[in-house]
Amino acid sequence: MTERKHSALFRYIERLQGERPWGAMLDAGTGVNSIRWVAGLATERWTAVTCSAGEADRARDAIKDAQRPQDRIVLGNWADAGLLKGELYDTVLAGYLLGAIEGFSPYFQSYLFARLRPVTRGALYVTGLEPYVPTARPETRAERLVWEIGRFRDACMLLAGNMPYREYPAPWVVDHVQRAGFTVRNVKHFAIGYKEGFVNAQIDMCAPGLEKLADRALAQALTERGEALRAEALDLIGEEGALRACRNYVVAAEPV
Ligand SMILES: C[S@@+](CC[C@H](N)C(=O)[O-])C[C@H]1O[C@@H](n2cnc3c(N)ncnc32)[C@H](O)[C@@H]1O
Repeated sequence: MTERKHSALFRYIERLQGERPWGAMLDAGTGVNSIRWVAGLATERWTAVTCSAGEADRARDAIKDAQRPQDRIVLGNWADAGLLKGELYDTVLAGYLLGAIEGFSPYFQSYLFARLRPVTRGALYVTGLEPYVPTARPETRAERLVWEIGRFRDACMLLAGNMPYREYPAPWVVDHVQRAGFTVRNVKHFAIGYKEGFVNAQIDMCAPGLEKLADRALAQALTERGEALRAEALDLIGEEGALRACRNYVVAAEPV
């Protein structure tokens, strides 16, 4: 994901929010990008949730000068019924949270929005990535490369004993958000242009797992495959400016 595309999604959410106050805000699956954005809004207070201690540290570092006494970073899992029990938020952001659930509490995806409903008083904004790994082989060179990189990355994650993310399409989100007791107000897609940072991050995240693989011949072959994908992707970015592939989305909803 590029910084620019994140900004476009956040700008769109700001437009949807309009003059309504952000009030008490919940960043339900925090990270460096979302916490920076939330910390820059005129909120009364904010709470940022993550179930990864590393992500909590990175988020804390990212906003250390902007955090007020009433703002909290909470390490917890939405699968835990006690997390933020009884708390209410005027604005809730579930930013790329749904896709990450597979990595931390697989099979919980269907319950996520019902879990967020009791803490949501005002607006719910969901951002996500249209699934691109479990599709048929794409036609364009850029789409095919992103698809191959995604499949390579996920295969390496599984071989290393980790769970890859699992993205969900916007209609699935709309359906589950409605079933959870929200009215959906807006759905919008944003085209993505992946740059060098995306390609390098996807290939580099495979290295620590490959280093620990007992089968060294397999690890070597996968490392070479990753470098070939990196070189091809960076060449194409050089030619076309970006890998134009995939779409992000924003789903905006309110409690019924
Ligand atoms: C892809 S990151 C979010 C990125 C962030 N919203 C941004 O825009 O920078 C996903 C986040 O969701 C959190 N997460 C995933 N599953 C979770 C769960 N079951 N409970 C709580 N947090 C979870 C992860 O720990 C991580 O902080």
